[in-house]
Amino acid sequence: MRIEFVPVDTQAGATAALAVLAHEGAALSPEARAANEATGGALARAIAGGRFTGAKGQTLDIVAPNGLEAARVVLVGVDGSGAVEPEAVELAAASAFQAVKTSGVVELVLKLGADAETAARAAFGARLAAYRFDKYRTTEKAEKKPSVQVVKIAAADPVKAQKAYEPLAALADAIVFSRDLVSEPANILHPEEFAARTKSLESLGLEVEILGEAEMAKLGMGSLLGVGQGSVRESQLVIMKWMGAADKSAQPIAFVGKGVCFDTGGISIKPADGMEDMKWDMGGAAAVAGVMHALAGRKAKVNAIGVLGLVENMPDGNAQRPGDVVTSMSGQTIEVINTDAEGRLVLADALWYTQERFKPQFMIDLATLTGAIIISLGHDYAGLFSNNDGLSEKLLAAGKAERESLWRLPLPAAYEKQIESPIADMKNIGGRPAGSITAGLFLQKFVNGVPWAHLDIASVAWKKPSADPTVPDGAVGYGVRLLNRLVADAYEG
Ligand code: BES
Ligand code: MN
Ligand code: ZN
Repeated sequence: MRIEFVPVDTQAGATAALAVLAHEGAALSPEARAANEATGGALARAIAGGRFTGAKGQTLDIVAPNGLEAARVVLVGVDGSGAVEPEAVELAAASAFQAVKTSGVVELVLKLGADAETAARAAFGARLAAYRFDKYRTTEKAEKKPSVQVVKIAAADPVKAQKAYEPLAALADAIVFSRDLVSEPANILHPEEFAARTKSLESLGLEVEILGEAEMAKLGMGSLLGVGQGSVRESQLVIMKWMGAADKSAQPIAFVGKGVCFDTGGISIKPADGMEDMKWDMGGAAAVAGVMHALAGRKAKVNAIGVLGLVENMPDGNAQRPGDVVTSMSGQTIEVINTDAEGRLVLADALWYTQERFKPQFMIDLATLTGAIIISLGHDYAGLFSNNDGLSEKLLAAGKAERESLWRLPLPAAYEKQIESPIADMKNIGGRPAGSITAGLFLQKFVNGVPWAHLDIASVAWKKPSADPTVPDGAVGYGVRLLNRLVADAYEG
């Protein structure tokens, strides 16, 4: 799908749909009024004949309207009455795209507001809505495929709109990169392949370093390596650097991602039902790679580090056993009671490495860490755990602004009892009560005073069904928008 910015007097042709806005009470926007007049009141009649109220996300499809060349007119609801917020336009553009994407029209003309910022946000919404992971489909029937090939966005000054779209296009590219990683099956996207794909981002000006098992063994990363030891695939640690601040020696910020390319559970093997979902157990690492892509893509004025712990958790003759004791890079020992609580073992070494080597201003880790976070929060929030109120507030605000909501949960010291081991410094599970919290407390043992936040994204990395028109069912790319916004609002310049 292509995006083009066009003059406001552009007419939708015979193979196109025209999208215009309506407010509460089905009140028509100026562009919608023009379409209504041109069609001798077809929009008003369609509204009168149904239940369209102009509520946010509603669409009304008017086919073959008399008086216009367009094949269809789509009315999109945005609530409110007058001025339309950029976010509402983003959603409206996405809803319009969803409404007509397989209708047969090859073009969608969006007339949702003509100023450059509004047009740019419309383009962003349409681009995200059009995401589709179809590279492995070879026999899909033509009539099932999306028909829309170009989205034209009407703007008072198309050149200015294109310019305003640039940073959003960079963000969309990053989200798509992240969604593709999450969508890839695990026979394709094993740790070395994941690392190779991050290496390709060097073309954006990032620096990418890759450590293999021998190097990690030298560093003493027994916790991470234990998880990967049952896999024929080699574990990898990827370090991505974006040095965009004016002062290249300024203290960096750091993001750390859980990248379990497939999580069978290991010897504590998972049930067969739904195990295929565990291909997206690398969603945290995909988010970190995605945000680094976004920062480099828009040349953010910040020094940022992304660290990805990439492993495959498999049962095998050489796999880690329940009861094994491993020594982490921090020197702390861990009794592995359940090999399916592997994400925290990966992050333990990745977090320690990040703070020791980079002494960052803060560390934020993202991980599809616990099923329990889904039980706690459902699919509309990721869990936030932190040792720092200021960082938490900034994250909560960024989440609100980008529709990637977070809910903060506590880290009560009293619950550390649950992860005490009789033979090692800790064990890797704390039983059923507060499962997401004891996972957070485990991670905190590998944070040495640095401001830190842990985002448990098991609830939000994959949406099926998705209620957001900018997020097609499947991989969300969760975290890229959130962290990009955090950096833009609080850590640049
Ligand atoms: N990757 C899973 C968590 C997960 C579950 C992500 C469902 C997405 C959807 C994680 O490695 C895991 O297996 N966690 C266990 C922890 C338990 C053994 C303490 C869990 O949540 O059951
Ligand atoms: Mn697991
Ligand atoms: Zn896992």
